[in-house]
Formats: sequence, C-alpha cells, structure tokens
Amino acid sequence: MTQLWGGRFSGVTDALMRQFQDSIYFDLRLWEADLDGSVAYAQALGRAEVITTEEANILQDGLDEIRAEFGQNRFELKDGDEDIHTAVERRLTELVGEVAGKLHTGRSRNDQVATDTRLWLKRQIVALRTQLVNLQQAILAQADEHLDVIMPGYTHLQQAQPVRLAHWLLSYGWMLQRDKERLDDLTRRVDVLPLGSAALAGNPFALDRQFLADTLGFAAISANSMDAVGDRDYIIEFLSWASLLQIHLSRLAEDLIIYSSQEFGFVEIDDAYATGSSIMPQKKNPDSLELIRGKTGRVVGALTGLLTTLKGVPSSYNKDFQEDKEPLFDTVDTLSMTLSIAAGVVATLKINEARIYEAMDSTMLATELADYLAHKGLPFRQAHHLAGQIVQQAIALDQPLSSFPLAAYQQFSDLFERDIHQWLTFKRAADRREIPGGTGEMAVRQQLELLRETIEEG
Ligand code: ARG
Repeated sequence: MTQLWGGRFSGVTDALMRQFQDSIYFDLRLWEADLDGSVAYAQALGRAEVITTEEANILQDGLDEIRAEFGQNRFELKDGDEDIHTAVERRLTELVGEVAGKLHTGRSRNDQVATDTRLWLKRQIVALRTQLVNLQQAILAQADEHLDVIMPGYTHLQQAQPVRLAHWLLSYGWMLQRDKERLDDLTRRVDVLPLGSAALAGNPFALDRQFLADTLGFAAISANSMDAVGDRDYIIEFLSWASLLQIHLSRLAEDLIIYSSQEFGFVEIDDAYATGSSIMPQKKNPDSLELIRGKTGRVVGALTGLLTTLKGVPSSYNKDFQEDKEPLFDTVDTLSMTLSIAAGVVATLKINEARIYEAMDSTMLATELADYLAHKGLPFRQAHHLAGQIVQQAIALDQPLSSFPLAAYQQFSDLFERDIHQWLTFKRAADRREIPGGTGEMAVRQQLELLRETIEEG
C-alpha cells in the first residue's frame, strides 16, 4: 500500500507507528466539512485555470458521489486511510481516476484540516447556541409560573434573605446570557478561512481566496499563512467558553441536588431525569444533575489538556495539533447532552411551595429589623447591632421574630412602634426591594421581561 506522501520513502512505516499516527477513527466525523472544502477548492482551481472546467466538473461529480456514500452510511474505509483527507482522496481516485490527483494542487492537509475543523465547529456552534436558548426558555417559563413563590435566599448556604424563586432561577438565565454573548464573540474568530495558506507559505496558484471564503460561508480570510496553519486559539477559546458554561450548569445542578434532598424538599426532579437504587427501594437519585456536575471535569480537562499540548509547539503546523480534535469533539458532544438534559430537568421540575415556606427561618427578617430602625433615623451600624441582639434573644426563647410582641421590641429600642409587625413578613421583605436588579415583585417582572426580550433579539 502506498501512502499519499510515499514518494520520498523507500522503507515501510512500522505497524504500530501507523496506528499511532492514524486519526481516521476520530476525524472521520469531519467528512461533510472535508467534502464541502474540496468542492469549493475544485471550483477555485477551475476558476484559476489550474484545471479545466471539465476536470473541475469530474471532481465535483466524484465528490458528490462520496457525499452520497457517507450520507447513506456506505462509505468504506480501507487500510491506509490515515485520516479523513486521505480517505476522501483515495476514494475519489477510485471513482474518477487520475484526475483526482489534481484536487490537492497547491493545497496541504495543513490548511485543509484547519478549514475542515473551523467549518465543522461553526456548524456545531449554531446547534449549541439553540440548545443554550432552549435552556434559557425553560428557566424563563418556570420563573414566570412561580413569580409569587418566596424562598430563602442563601449566602454561604445559610439562610440570608427572602427572595423570589424566580429571582434565583433568573440568576442562571443571566449567566447563560453571558455565555451566549461570549459564544457570539468567539465565533467571529472561528469564522476565518485558512484555505489557501497551503503548508505554511501560501498557495502559489493565484487562487481566489475570497471566492473560497464566500463559497464556504466564512466571514473573513486569514491574513498570515503561517499563523493560519499554526493557529488553534479558536479551539482553546471554544473550550474555555465550554468550561465556563459547563461550570454554570454544574452550579445549577448543585443547587437542584441540594434543593431536591429530603432535608430541603423544595423541588422534585421528574422521574424522567432520576434513577433508583439497586438495593434501597425508596431511593430517587438526581443522577441527571450529578452527571452534569461530574462532566465538568472532562470539559475543563479537555481545555487544560489542549493548553498543555500547545505549550512550546514551534510556529506553524506541527503534528501535535492532531491532538486538538478528540477534546474538541468530546466537549461538543458533552455540552450538547448536558444542555439538553439541563433544559429537560428545569422544564419538568416540580416546585414544592409548602416545603419552601416551612423551611423559612424568621431570622431572615433580621435585616428588616435593622432597616426599620435605620428608617427611624438610627445609624445603620447601631441598628444592625441591636437587631443582632434581638435575634440572639429570639433564638434563646425559640420564638420567631414575627411573633415577638411589641413590648419586647420596645425593650430594645423605643423607636419600635405598632407598624413593626407589618415589616416582618417574607413577602414584604422581598417586595421592599423594588429596585432594578432587586427581588421585589415589579423588579422581578421587569427583569423577566428584559431577559425575554434580550433572548428574542437573538
Ligand atoms: N490528521 C492531521 C491533523 O489532524 C491532518 C494534517 C496532517 N498534516 C501533516 N502535515 N501531516 O492534524
């Protein structure tokens, strides 16, 4: 068997070495992008009169046939197909004969693989972006439906202040919004065509690179051929983006795991996203969420792995770069799953309002006490101290702040008046925060509409 680069060699490649350098078992999934790139390249060769129109048409027909073979799952790999580029060229030769050998004129696998990967990634980004929006929509729908539910807001996982459940949910909606903005921003740098850079020095056949970019739908062409074949920054950026998004999903998962435990019982995960135990019949485990949390390790691992691979690689193309695809593919697959599962979990989540109210500790109203005194003119530091003492006593007497009699309050300060008890409800506490970004009813409604509009704007 002769390799496509075999001319210079008289000895044979060691069998293990061949296996070692083969990338076909993973880069096969670039087939569609590879064919698109080759079709455009054949046209560009024809337009530059490097090949005749007739030859360009023959190449096009052959590539179309290969596309059909892949599409119908009947493309056959053969021994010696070391990567997708080689496999396609080998098959093209079988189909159209010697003229197939003209397709690679002035092209290198270095600019070819970079083009394929960018084209493939651009298409995946479109799909991932839609899934991201679907998760945002699921969050919006739950927030809208439960706008009146007040829950404990936590800091340090300690009950802090009452908030709207919608407010907590929407906090994830905004995180995802930033993820979407970051994705759009990095897409601009993925959307650059390397084809025409050849191995590293540029194509010598006066090909029209703008035509290639327009045909393949790239927004720009690369400005430096050495940079173009040696650039994997766009993959690093994508993996960084993916890592942060996956970390956001992990945090959402963690909240829901805690909130769905027996001790909390604030939410119930739908049966569709839970599993049982092989020994404990009562168990309903939030495996979906644990896996979302757990898969964060492999996504961040893909990023750190590729960062490490790139460290110290000299300029332009080096075979180390072949190591970029598996982490990239795995991350796209992982995110595609985690985004869909997360959307499903959120959309089907049951909220247990009664359990949430039961769990709310009246000491969360301590800030209201301090604010009340501050309203009456007491400097906030003193008000805070006084409220702290009241809480200490309430805990000692095991009495909720809201049922402390007025006289008891007045022992701490004569600023306390009849209206104090109106201040001491969770709803009132939430609704006192009618400020943009706050948890008051109007503020959360506005926030919800703002997120909805932002999503609809694209
Ligand atoms: N399989 C290779 C990769 O993924 C394709 C490019 C090979 N280029 C080369 N000069 N050997 O990077």
